[in-house]
Amino acid sequence: MLSNREALSRASHELRTPLQAILGFGQLLALDSLNDSQRHSVEQIIAGGRHLLALIEDLLDLSQVGELAIGPVDVGEEINHAVALCRPLAAERSLAVNIELAEEPLTVLADARRLKQILLNLISNAVKYNRPAGRLTLRAGIDPDEQLRIEVIDTGRGISRAELDRVFAPFERLDAARRGIEGNGLGLAVSKALAEAMGGTIDVVSAPGEGSVFTLRLPAVEADVGADADRTAASQLAGVR
Ligand SMILES: Nc1ncnc2c1ncn2[C@@H]1O[C@H](COP(=O)(O)OP(=O)(O)O)[C@@H](O)[C@H]1O
Ligand SMILES: [Mg+2]
Repeated sequence: MLSNREALSRASHELRTPLQAILGFGQLLALDSLNDSQRHSVEQIIAGGRHLLALIEDLLDLSQVGELAIGPVDVGEEINHAVALCRPLAAERSLAVNIELAEEPLTVLADARRLKQILLNLISNAVKYNRPAGRLTLRAGIDPDEQLRIEVIDTGRGISRAELDRVFAPFERLDAARRGIEGNGLGLAVSKALAEAMGGTIDVVSAPGEGSVFTLRLPAVEADVGADADRTAASQLAGVR
């Protein structure tokens, strides 16, 4: 018998292949000359397919939370890449985007692919739930407790105190569905599970009407491992003397 996790993982893989065919052929159809009603139908097929594909990918990620490839990862690089992927959507909403990285080397122990995924979830939320012509700020630095801190800051409508706990629950969308904003309510649940599996945390603080700050913390690594080893050797020598 398959375990629940294996069944979920297997089902997600099996669902993805035919769905990609539906999306691919839908996109091909959209290139044909269609009348308005046909075009509307094809757009519905593609939008529904995209929604399902995102859902399947999130479920697959949830089923694979424990399977990590941990190593040193350059946070600046991951932030720049994730922001680049979200830039078209941010531009569509006329958002100003700032990236503020501390001078020191920003290296974490993480699974690079999973870190990128968390960043994409937080950044896409900060874009989707921002106000038009608002601001998106990414900030990263190392805290005194050796945790690497990444903040994703938006100027959206914020999240009320009563709603703050709920945003991390799977399938929770608050009022986003009613407001017609695309999503499935899994992004933050997956992100939190991934962050915790990598020995980190995700927290949120929000000022309703002003915006929200989502903070990801992960264990930092001394980037200059060579210097670190020298220092350890020197202090051991000092102890011997
Ligand atoms: N930056 C944010 N500002 C305001 N609300 C947010 C923000 N990020 C998330 N939320 C709320 O939390 C819900 C859950 O977020 P998430 O798990 O990413 O799912 P999704 O974005 O697919 O709805 C969203 O539907 C939205 O209502
Ligand atoms: Mg989301």
